[in-house]
Amino acid sequence: MEVGRAQVVAGSAPGSHSVAIDRHSLDNQRIVFRFPSPLPRPRATVVVDFSYTLRNDTTDGFWRHSYDDENGNTRWMAATQLEATSARKMLPCFDEPDLKAEFQVTLTTPSDVVALSNMPVESQETMEEGAKMKHRFFKTPKMPTYLLAIAVGELRNSTKVVQTRDGAKAISVWSTPTRATETARAVEFMASSLTYFEDLFDISYPLPKLDWVAVPGFGGGAMENWGLILSRETDILASDAYSSAMDWKRTAQVTAHEISHSWFGNLVTMRTWGDLWLNEGFAKHFEMLGAANSMGVDAGFMERFYLQVGRPALWADELPWSKVPLSRDEGDWDGDLSCGMLRRVSGPLNYWKGASILRMLHTYLIRDHVEMPQPDEDAFLVALRLYLSRFQFNNTVTADLLDTLQESTGQPFRTWMHRWLYHGGHPVVNVTLGGPDGRDVFIAQKPFDLNGAQQCDSSHWWIPVRYRFKSKSDFEWMLLEDCNPLKLGTLRDEDDTVLVNADRFGFYRVQYDPRIAASLLSSAMSTPEDDDSFRVGPIDLAAMLDDAFVLARSNALHFNEFLNLTTTLGALRNTGSPLYPDSSPWAVALPLLLRTRDLLTGAANIQHCTDLLEDYVTGNVTVPFMASLPTVQSPGDPRVGLDFVVGEDDKLDFRLMRMAVLENAGLLGDEEVTRKALQLDGGGGVDLHPDIQRVVYSLAVAGGNATVYKRMKSKYLDAEEVHEEVRALHALTYAPNEDLVADVIRFTISDAVDPQNKVRVISRMSITGVFGGLLDRGAATARAVYRFFKAELEAMVDATDACKVAAWLQDAADVMSGAEFSADLNSKAFSPLVDDQSQAAASRLVTLNQDWQHRFGESTCGWLQDRLSG
Ligand code: BES
Ligand code: ZN
Repeated sequence: MEVGRAQVVAGSAPGSHSVAIDRHSLDNQRIVFRFPSPLPRPRATVVVDFSYTLRNDTTDGFWRHSYDDENGNTRWMAATQLEATSARKMLPCFDEPDLKAEFQVTLTTPSDVVALSNMPVESQETMEEGAKMKHRFFKTPKMPTYLLAIAVGELRNSTKVVQTRDGAKAISVWSTPTRATETARAVEFMASSLTYFEDLFDISYPLPKLDWVAVPGFGGGAMENWGLILSRETDILASDAYSSAMDWKRTAQVTAHEISHSWFGNLVTMRTWGDLWLNEGFAKHFEMLGAANSMGVDAGFMERFYLQVGRPALWADELPWSKVPLSRDEGDWDGDLSCGMLRRVSGPLNYWKGASILRMLHTYLIRDHVEMPQPDEDAFLVALRLYLSRFQFNNTVTADLLDTLQESTGQPFRTWMHRWLYHGGHPVVNVTLGGPDGRDVFIAQKPFDLNGAQQCDSSHWWIPVRYRFKSKSDFEWMLLEDCNPLKLGTLRDEDDTVLVNADRFGFYRVQYDPRIAASLLSSAMSTPEDDDSFRVGPIDLAAMLDDAFVLARSNALHFNEFLNLTTTLGALRNTGSPLYPDSSPWAVALPLLLRTRDLLTGAANIQHCTDLLEDYVTGNVTVPFMASLPTVQSPGDPRVGLDFVVGEDDKLDFRLMRMAVLENAGLLGDEEVTRKALQLDGGGGVDLHPDIQRVVYSLAVAGGNATVYKRMKSKYLDAEEVHEEVRALHALTYAPNEDLVADVIRFTISDAVDPQNKVRVISRMSITGVFGGLLDRGAATARAVYRFFKAELEAMVDATDACKVAAWLQDAADVMSGAEFSADLNSKAFSPLVDDQSQAAASRLVTLNQDWQHRFGESTCGWLQDRLSG
């Protein structure tokens, strides 16, 4: 940015005074003005001239991007991305979230393009004989700098006029002309979220209009600029022709998320970036509620919270070094993590842990009617309405939220929430049996620690525990507030059991006495005829699987407990079991089984058990389950193999389950599934339903040769539509051998792949079960990624940045176990481009896997042998 001159224009005194500018300060993202005399009070105006050319080598600040139109001509689009600290790249300003201001934007553009900003146009005037147009926009309300936005380009829109609490307002989605057929459905999602949140929060949407632009080349996912939301094309555009079940879900969630920020974030903003969780935790929480509202209950969003938010939050919060608090006083907080380590935790914590804590609170406050609270019975919502109206157009810190909750509910939330918000980590609740005849049930808390046992100490949590005895008809609540064990009750007889943290509203793990775990298992498998209404739901089973896997990893229980739980999966039948055919247990168990396979593969003495594991999954888990599902072609007539066909009436959750089970079955060695995928891909693949396309493409690459891989690459390069393009690119990340994995990365960091997709590809390939569950590519891919990084470290850092590479290195290490990696990491083979701390962290992750192999390798082989022979 070139800064020309600056002048003080006093409010009352006529004339102006030049201001000296300290130019060195510009290098430091700052500008220092030296005023000739004290500024007039109470208010002075400083006018600053500055200029720059929009850059096309970055996607933050005020940037531009070129793309090809349908005739292959190059077109340009300009847009902004200012969060967190790039407003200063766009204009000199006080770039802090608590220095809110009103903005009045005027833009001069070529006259044949659309120009948008946060507010509607106030006036337009043609210039230079019609060649240019000057657009003057209305002044914004008080808002932080990071929400200012502009978008300019050749755009088409779908618009809907919505009746809001303040009358009719226009809601529009804009895209380049070729994508215009995909904006109409998106507008519907926006409209439904907007009116839903107005009612929920009891405050009008504060601006006169809402635009959303699908920006080609957008760097992040989506950005909630007030009145002008911007996003990548795939996150907002939607149509039956191109959107898969996952794409629909994403669009529903992204619209709800960004629109909820209009209240949580834009109207009420965190005071410092250390409290970003106040923005993103709320938006994540309301994203799930808003998506459930716009897609309908059949979509299963409330069930999916645990899968998509709660579970990954637990994993991120329990990395061996993760002691990062949600609310951080920047400067004061002494967590001295490197950027690579912080990167791996801060996003997951702000979004997922933040939302999980809010949901736990929310559920506790509506505990008498968890299912469907009316707004005025919802004490959480009542408190939030007070919070929003009290702090609107203003800023807050975490304590403001707690004070408001405390005042509104009369309960001591400042004390209760202290440990959850100002410290890292979370507890595990142990459920044990005791008393004279071993039937009394006790619960007690201690901190979860991946490094092994820890004791409860003075820094305990306030834990709301929702539980249910099989012998009683209702859910009950108990508060676990210190280290002392509490008696939950007594099992009535042999048949009785108890479910703790039911439906997983609480952000903690549960470790059951093995006898209780066993009786919960048999309840999960029972059918309504031989049972009362007691049920171990799909989420409960999913969470038991995950807890068992992780607790074994931390050496708190034996890995056989996890394996035993997986035996339920293949036995699920359509006999009224509540678990059939829900996607949740599958979405958790299959990636964990993939991981188990990788752990077996990594150690010489147990490698031979890899085949046993694959045989076990195919023969006892996926095939029996798939065979039990009625197929589309012959409903009610089960036959072997889940169809690669989507039925017209299939519900979203069922569609997601189909994708998860087929994909994982293929990856876990089901040759029949892979054969079908290759056959369908060989037929061209383009006429397939988008859901099926996704599975077929991925499995074809995973199970295919270099020819299939090359064909997929061309599909990516020739794709005509954005969702299809991403599906092909995504499939490349399943490259089946080390050479091809290296090829994908080389291809990705070349100019052939747009920067907006570079990061996506690489993080998917190095990513572990932590982030996606369904995205696990396994240790073989991670190993190849790791070796590529080692060979091409400089190129990697140049193409992305050192923090990302450091974070990916840890992701890759998370599923690896060989001596090669420990040796490299311990000798700091990646220095100096990757910091020492990140390498030490990666090394620690490798050690955890080696510990697992020593502890459970042999016994897992034995367990598999027994199962397969028995
Ligand atoms: N405000 C964020 C994007 C952001 C955060 C930009 C921090 C820069 C710094 C936005 O609301 C967001 O969270 N977007 C998500 C999508 C959302 C549905 C989770 C994204 O970009 O992936
Ligand atoms: Zn957000």
